[in-house]
Amino acid sequence: MTQVLAFGREDWQAPADAHERDGVIAALEAGDVVAFEHLPFVFTEQERALSQSSLLGDSKNISYSSATGELKGCNAGPAELQVLHGLLARYADYSQTLVRTVLAPYTDGLQVARTSFRPQEISGRPTSWRKDDTRLHVDSFPSSPVQGRRILRVFSNVNPFGESRVWRVGGSFEDVARRYELPGPLWGSSQLLNWLHITKSRRTAYDHHMLRLHDSLKADAAYQSGDQLTHEFAPGTTWLVYTDQVPHAAMSGRYAMEQTFLLPVKYMRNAQLSPVKVLERVLGRELV
Ligand code: SIN
Ligand code: FE
Repeated sequence: MTQVLAFGREDWQAPADAHERDGVIAALEAGDVVAFEHLPFVFTEQERALSQSSLLGDSKNISYSSATGELKGCNAGPAELQVLHGLLARYADYSQTLVRTVLAPYTDGLQVARTSFRPQEISGRPTSWRKDDTRLHVDSFPSSPVQGRRILRVFSNVNPFGESRVWRVGGSFEDVARRYELPGPLWGSSQLLNWLHITKSRRTAYDHHMLRLHDSLKADAAYQSGDQLTHEFAPGTTWLVYTDQVPHAAMSGRYAMEQTFLLPVKYMRNAQLSPVKVLERVLGRELV
């Protein structure tokens, strides 16, 4: 069963000692959630004013690319846009500093992906079962294949009203990988998806299986009500998790920040624990 392990860090950039590093890396790679319960991401006054207004377009998050500076999913005017841009850029910066400090052995391989601000209440949001993140799932992106790389996410609850973000977490990735029949992709389908620009790069057999696992879990009523842990992340908590490995569901809460990183498995302490290696063992063939 996945655990949420609390670590005492209270500073985004204080140096980490070997004890903290080893503990955090071992916990993450084993499929646990690492929680810093006293590591708030503090809003400026202007940013606090933002959270009162309605900024979202049709999407549930405002997302940001630190590579291009582009913001997506918001309906804000120019003044608010500038504040939002600053907010997301700062979170991208803070979480990079944190990860490069605490997970120093990963630094050379770390790839910075999207940053998001999630002001909207999760519970009661109408959606299809496949997009419903209140169902336990492992993360997998249909149009952005990761080709075996890890998905590491840094969340922070910035709720100004004292409300927790409530998650459920399920069991081990290996159990999930053994739970379903996993037929391979149809011959030629990955090339076709790429030609049609449905995927941004080649969808490997690994990506194919991870999408199947994402859907199989969400559709599996027995899994959804099986062994699991509910955890409340209070405001001021920042947590790290490999969301490709840990079955998770976000049940309620509003106002969170999130940063995604991708990591090639060769940078892990123990790559054998990665979903790609586990699936390769279960299926008896190479997947990337
Ligand atoms: C998810 O990755 O399923 C959503 C997590 C969250 O927004 O808390
Ligand atoms: Fe998810």
